[in-house]
Amino acid sequence: MQTNEILGQLTLEEKVKLIVGVGFPGLFGNPPSRVHGVAGETYPIPRLGIPATVLADGPAGLRINPTREGTEKTYHATAFPVETMLASSWNKELLEKVGRAVGEEVREYGVDILLAPAINIHRNPLCGRNFEYYSEDPVLSGEMAAAFVKGVQSQGVGACVKHFVANEQETNRMQVDTIVSERALREIYLKAFEIAIKKAKPWTVMSAYNKLNGKYCSQNEWLLKKVLREQWGFEGFVMTDWFAGDDPVEQVKSGNDSIMPGKTYQVNFQRKDEVEEIMQAIKEGKLSEEELNECVRNILGVLVNTPSYKKYSFSDKPDLDTHAEVAYEAGAEGVVLLKNNDVLPFDKDTSFALFGTGQVETIKGGTGSGDTHPRYIIPILEGVRRAGLRVDEELAKRYEDYIAKMRETEEYKPRADLWGTIVKPKLPENFLSEDEIRVVAEKNEVGIIVISRISGEGYDRKPIKGDFYLSDDEFELIQTVSTEFHKLGKKVLVILNIGSPIEVASWRDMVDGILLIWQAGQETGRILADVLVGKINPSGKLPTTFPKDYKDISSWSFPGEPADNPQKVVYEEDIYVGYRYYDTFNVQPAYEFGFGLSYTTFEYKDLNVLLDGDLIKISYVVTNMGKYPGKEISQVYVKAPKGKIDKPFQELKTFHKTKLLNPGEFERIDLEIPLKDLASFVKEEWLVENGEYEIRVGASSRDIRLRKTFSVGEERIFKP
Ligand code: BGC
Repeated sequence: MQTNEILGQLTLEEKVKLIVGVGFPGLFGNPPSRVHGVAGETYPIPRLGIPATVLADGPAGLRINPTREGTEKTYHATAFPVETMLASSWNKELLEKVGRAVGEEVREYGVDILLAPAINIHRNPLCGRNFEYYSEDPVLSGEMAAAFVKGVQSQGVGACVKHFVANEQETNRMQVDTIVSERALREIYLKAFEIAIKKAKPWTVMSAYNKLNGKYCSQNEWLLKKVLREQWGFEGFVMTDWFAGDDPVEQVKSGNDSIMPGKTYQVNFQRKDEVEEIMQAIKEGKLSEEELNECVRNILGVLVNTPSYKKYSFSDKPDLDTHAEVAYEAGAEGVVLLKNNDVLPFDKDTSFALFGTGQVETIKGGTGSGDTHPRYIIPILEGVRRAGLRVDEELAKRYEDYIAKMRETEEYKPRADLWGTIVKPKLPENFLSEDEIRVVAEKNEVGIIVISRISGEGYDRKPIKGDFYLSDDEFELIQTVSTEFHKLGKKVLVILNIGSPIEVASWRDMVDGILLIWQAGQETGRILADVLVGKINPSGKLPTTFPKDYKDISSWSFPGEPADNPQKVVYEEDIYVGYRYYDTFNVQPAYEFGFGLSYTTFEYKDLNVLLDGDLIKISYVVTNMGKYPGKEISQVYVKAPKGKIDKPFQELKTFHKTKLLNPGEFERIDLEIPLKDLASFVKEEWLVENGEYEIRVGASSRDIRLRKTFSVGEERIFKP
């Protein structure tokens, strides 16, 4: 049936019910969904052949319950690397491939819409959900999201780009009012969404919890009608974030089509029924039926394409083995080598000692709705064991025993958090004496220390020791291991198993290498083992800056102390987020945006730039000059002329990752930048000033290898 035909047959009450979810499945007295552990469902209308549409998280893989009562069958889904790691690959084809794999799991487990990707901006490294977001830059975020969405939707299921918009902190996320200029919104925060929505046409968008300049995003007509639909041409449906906003009638009027999870929205801690409220508003003439119809139409337009509507008979057997390989490949491309003084790669028969409890309790991803329930996780220690590497088994055993013993104590017992996720209080890392470490150093050729961090939905990280900074015991461990190994002329490597930057500047000089493996999902240990011995040549680059110190961050007053119950967050730094800030105001980061080393080296040459109508055409050549096969990510930044608009020092406009280049092999790279992408948002329009622009092709934002200028003769204006 066509959308309008269905619409014509719905009663008023059915329409209202269709736009309000059925309640959180399996919680608050609601029956579970037919797919256990999903986040929501739409209201079914069997008499018209409309089934419930099933919605499930999330960004690192499908989140459903792995087991169900009354059956031995399991429903595991693949745990892919977290989004920040996926973005570190800068590889669009790879993101599409990951999207295809996730999409297949969505479809084969009977789900219709995946609640991902999340594309808020890394405004500050302490946002508790940064691991679920791609980058501090909107172009990288938008391109990664577009590729992922294309992959997911190629499987006949929908994606949901979230959280629209300016949801860059967890503290008071459901009430906080984000105050941000329209320019910063358009150029940074909305930009990522604009790219993803225009390029990949996601079936759905999730409006964010927070208010935007005074109005809840789910009740913000400017955002949902003017920007999203009128200006960008979005044709799917918008759903609220779970329990968001405070007025369902206003949500309908503002263009927020679907209210999720439904039946339980809260005002001043009182549960209210959205269906009743909307029915009442229609009766009283406060809401017209046509306004309601608009939402229903948008929802139906998506619904008739879902597997559930098409009666797809799902297998409950996605190809988890193939997807494990995709997860491995994605992780392999997202590893970022931050420092390497001749410590990596090493031979397969090199003996090494692994320090740090994270070798056993390896973090696969963050907590909250971005969590996953895979068949297995390969921790770091297990990964190196399986790869047959010469890890110090005696030391490994000490760690295993220490962890097991500590986890039995009251203080360090694993406990369930807000989400029912089991969290493990951080263990002290200094249980080995100096003498013991000396003996280990004598026995092994290399010392490796794992530093781990976990964060999650509902809370932000803190600029304190043990979180953004190393704890004293971690610092001590790095210091003692480095001293003892260096005394014997042996090298030390630190592995960062984290979801968002930590401070590195105060300790990095003590060690010879730093390898950032992020939270790489179920295959973490396997990926790490292969990087150590050069089976994988790291080819990831930072999608987000590692600042030298917390106070160097342009939004350092973020997010407000939870105890002070902050009602507002003001984006005072405006467009100066991430490298836009560091580069413009000459603040030296620890590791800059776009940075990442390789086991090989690359040469850049032959830059050509041509302005052809409204397109800037760029070409250059990248050659592998070293001894290892490798891939190189090159980044194209544009520096604008000094004119009347305040511009960042430079901005990323496009990028490219080469194929695997053998030693001596080269790739000619051809890229295009639409002239409009050079514009700044001034007074409701996109403005490109005339003058001389510089194209800067770099291996990172601060390692510019090629430069060329071109001129824009006349000022240009583009409509939003
Ligand atoms: C999160 C969303 C998620 C939803 C459903 C909310 O708390 O903010 O990202 O999709 O829950 O689980």
